[in-house]
Amino acid sequence: MTHSVAIIIVAAGSGTRLGASAPKAFVDVSGTPILEHAVLGAAGLGQLVIVAPRSHLSHAQDIVDRANLDATVVAGGDSRQASVAAGLSVLEPGIRTVLVHDAARAFTPREQIERVIDAVESTGAGVIPALPVSDTIKRVDGSAVLATVDRSELVQVQTPQGFPRAELDHAYSVAAAEYTDDAALFAADGGAVTTVPGDARAFKITTPADLRRAEQELGDAVAGTVRTGIGVDVHAYDAAEPLWLGGLYWPDEVGLSGHSDGDAMSHAICDALLSAAGLGDIGSRFGTDDPRFAGAHGEVFIRETVALVVGAGFTIGNVAVQLIANGPRLGARRLELESHLSDLVGAPVSVAATTSDGLGFTGKGEGVAVMATALVSR
Ligand code: CTP
Ligand code: MG
Repeated sequence: MTHSVAIIIVAAGSGTRLGASAPKAFVDVSGTPILEHAVLGAAGLGQLVIVAPRSHLSHAQDIVDRANLDATVVAGGDSRQASVAAGLSVLEPGIRTVLVHDAARAFTPREQIERVIDAVESTGAGVIPALPVSDTIKRVDGSAVLATVDRSELVQVQTPQGFPRAELDHAYSVAAAEYTDDAALFAADGGAVTTVPGDARAFKITTPADLRRAEQELGDAVAGTVRTGIGVDVHAYDAAEPLWLGGLYWPDEVGLSGHSDGDAMSHAICDALLSAAGLGDIGSRFGTDDPRFAGAHGEVFIRETVALVVGAGFTIGNVAVQLIANGPRLGARRLELESHLSDLVGAPVSVAATTSDGLGFTGKGEGVAVMATALVSR
């Protein structure tokens, strides 16, 4: 695929101020390395270049592979500027717009990256995301205050910073000093730089407190959108009934008793889904005195439940279900069962089974128990 946009993610710093045992980009936030968060946030917008410490090139490549992405991984230098230069040296020939982004700004909203790309393409200038300064700023000499600076003429800037590729290449080729950011280096070569709005979520993880903030914000974001649910159902064996389980008919197996067809697996799945969506449970949703459900098969309940959950604005992530019983043995039909249930639910359903070691009603062969969990998101 040919790209006209490239995003260089610089991740070659050591993270002195964070003081972790690994280079900063390889420190986890909620179990995932900072670099992985950054890469996922920038994926799919153009050629992806990752500049990593020489000691961590294979770690960086592992992250790219795990995310199933195409990216160019290259070793960085002793300064951020040297690392950016290393990234520029591996751009594809067709690149016309280049963004330089700190891996440490791992939670930059995608809209900010897109805003910068759009502004470079429409203005032909260097573009940097900026936020107003909210604190009062003083000019000092040691501890003596000299003046209050007019903060209305100041902004704080973030990344990604975007540039027309040829001009940035030129600015880097003639740079004779270390600049504090790419925009300063670009301006020193005569390039014009403009701002677009930044975003507080694009803050740079620098200190241990920043790392805690990132954990917290990520936790809040996930908790706001993802919910789990649990469902349990139990039915007694009834040799006079045919066996329906997981929406399938099981010939030559002892059946289950119940108001409907006794399909404890389908019922547990419904309860897990309703619980995840906060919609009550199967008993409160589908009354046992409702003639529509007398003798109804499990898949009728699953279809109705999925319609309720989706109708409430949720997407179903997956369902996991486990049968606790002496029989039936699922082995030979487990894949068929998973595929049938996944079709009904519209999301992956995994099925497992266990016995209970001769203990309790399941162990004594009086009936079956089924437990299910479900994940939904809004
Ligand atoms: N960076 C880089 N190469 C360097 C130095 C920094 O690629 N030689 C990258 C960092 O990995 C980071 C970004 O530039 O993503 C911003 O730098 P900073 O936040 O200062 O990170 P570190 O230099 O790693 O941290 P510290 O200054 O605390 O050592
Ligand atoms: Mg640094």
